[in-house]
Parts: sequence; C-alpha cells; structure tokens
Amino acid sequence: MKKTALITGASAGLGVEFAVQLAAQGHDLVLVARRKEKLDEVAKSLAEAHGVDVRTMSADLSDPSAPEDLFAQVQSEGLAIDYLINNAGSAGPSLFEEKDWAPQAKFLELMMTSVTHMCHHFIPPMRERGFGRVVNVSSFAGRLARPAGAHYGPSKAYLVALSEELALLLRGTGVHASALCPGFTHTDFHEAAGMMEMKNSLPGFLWYDAETVVRDGLRAVERGKPIMVSGRLYRWLDPIAQSVFFRPLIKAMAPGR
Ligand SMILES: NC(=O)c1ccc[n+]([C@@H]2O[C@H](COP(=O)([O-])OP(=O)(O)OC[C@H]3O[C@@H](n4cnc5c(N)ncnc54)[C@H](OP(=O)(O)O)[C@@H]3O)[C@@H](O)[C@H]2O)c1
Repeated sequence: MKKTALITGASAGLGVEFAVQLAAQGHDLVLVARRKEKLDEVAKSLAEAHGVDVRTMSADLSDPSAPEDLFAQVQSEGLAIDYLINNAGSAGPSLFEEKDWAPQAKFLELMMTSVTHMCHHFIPPMRERGFGRVVNVSSFAGRLARPAGAHYGPSKAYLVALSEELALLLRGTGVHASALCPGFTHTDFHEAAGMMEMKNSLPGFLWYDAETVVRDGLRAVERGKPIMVSGRLYRWLDPIAQSVFFRPLIKAMAPGR
C-alpha cells in the first residue's frame, strides 16, 4: 500500500538512496536537507521515474526549531508520515581541536537532539494510526570507543540506545524503530569532512555501497530488528566489538601509552 516517507539528509549519499529505494516501492516522499536545489533535482528525477509525489523542505537540523517547523509544515500540507528516516549527519568538529563551543553544540543538536525531536513529533501519529517505520541512521562507530574526534561515535551510540528503547516502548503498536549501523560507505561524507586522504588510505574491502546499506536498513525495520549492523564484515566484527575482551585492545591503541 502507498505510504509517505520523510527522509532527512536526502540531498546526497545514503539519503538519496533511501529516497530511490522507497520511491521504487511506490511510496510518496518528503525530502529534507539544507541544499534545496539538490533536493529538487532528486525530487524531479524520482517523480519522473516512479510516478510518486515528492516534496522538498529545506531545513538545517542543527537549528533547534527545525523539527518543530518541519512537523508544522507536514501537518499544514495534510501529510501523514509513515516512514521516518533520520539520516542527516556529518563528521563534525573534533572536541578539542575546534576551540569554539557553538559548532560543537550545533553538531550535537544535529546528531542527537534533532533525531529525538523528530521522533517526539512524528511517532505519536504513527502510533495512533497503528503503522510506522523509523530508521535512525547510526554508525558502526557507535558500536565501539575509538581514540577519534570524541563525539561522533558517542552521538551514534546514543542513536542505538534511543532506537532500542523506542523499539521496546512501541512493541505491539505497529510502529517499528531501528538503528542502522553502517561501516565505511561510499557517499559524499568523507569528502565533505575533508577526509579523502584517510578514505584513500583504507583498503577496499572495508567499504560498502549505499545501495547495500539502505537495503539492509529497510529490511531490518520491516522485520522489527532494533539494531542493524550493515555489511557482512561489520556484522562479523560487531560481536567482537561488544565483547569485554576488545576493551584492552582499544586501550592499547589510545594515545598516551
Ligand atoms: N558514509 C559513511 O561511511 C557513513 C558510515 C556510517 C554512518 N554514516 C551516517 O550516514 C548518514 C548519512 O551520511 P552520508 O554518508 O550519506 O553523507 P553525505 O553524503 O555527506 O550526506 C549527508 C546528508 O546529511 C545532510 N545534512 C548534513 N548536515 C545537515 C544539517 N545541518 N541539516 C540538514 N541536513 C544536513 C546533507 O545535506 P545538506 O548538506 O544539503 O544539508 C546530506 O544530505 C549520516 O548520519 C552519517 O553519520 C555514514
């Protein structure tokens, strides 16, 4: 049956792929990101290819009022959102290298608060209608501590915890919530973060394509799986990363030893 999906971060990468796969299933779309012209390009091509209704809404999700404004706009257009894909995200600043607090606060707003705020507004109507699918795009980086920028991984770990709790809370309501945890994925993410040198230095087997990741995410939420680690390699690594025996290894890798 035809549904409507709202996808954040739909101007590039995984967000575009979510739009492609959901449009191919015949669903109408609401695409959200900051770059309106990119969203409009995606909207035009998907509406032409699949005959679905695609609307675009420009929003900066690091602005605390954005989720509320989006919800109001969706309501004023008389739309019922059945799929909520909280996908927008960025690599963010390093906690110590970036000296100002404002960019750090905006990053945390984008990565955690905006997702929670979107769930706060969009899930209750799903629960009332008895159907909803919520995918919170987390990361394999949220499954283990690393001596990295200090809050990208933790912000993604929050999304895992949030999704797991939502999945429990929503049991029996017809609304499913899943955290999708991809490993390294070919998108614009690393270029946008100035991380191309790191990307080029990593072996190819660590990288997955957006199509595989999104297919895994949509399948998982359909099945009501609260945590989906995407990609065979990362699924194999995940139980090791969760093991207590992995902690000493992480410690040994940390600077200062
Ligand atoms: N690529 C990977 O290796 C990887 C691995 C694990 C998890 N992830 C996660 O996957 C999600 C999608 O990333 P991607 O890899 O597809 O990266 P991407 O190609 O750089 O796309 C990021 C998307 O997020 C949007 N976005 C960024 N900041 C925003 C803001 N303040 N407000 C609204 N939209 C914003 C961007 O749109 P605008 O610039 O137009 O706003 C863009 O559409 C992210 O949450 C990321 O953390 C990625």
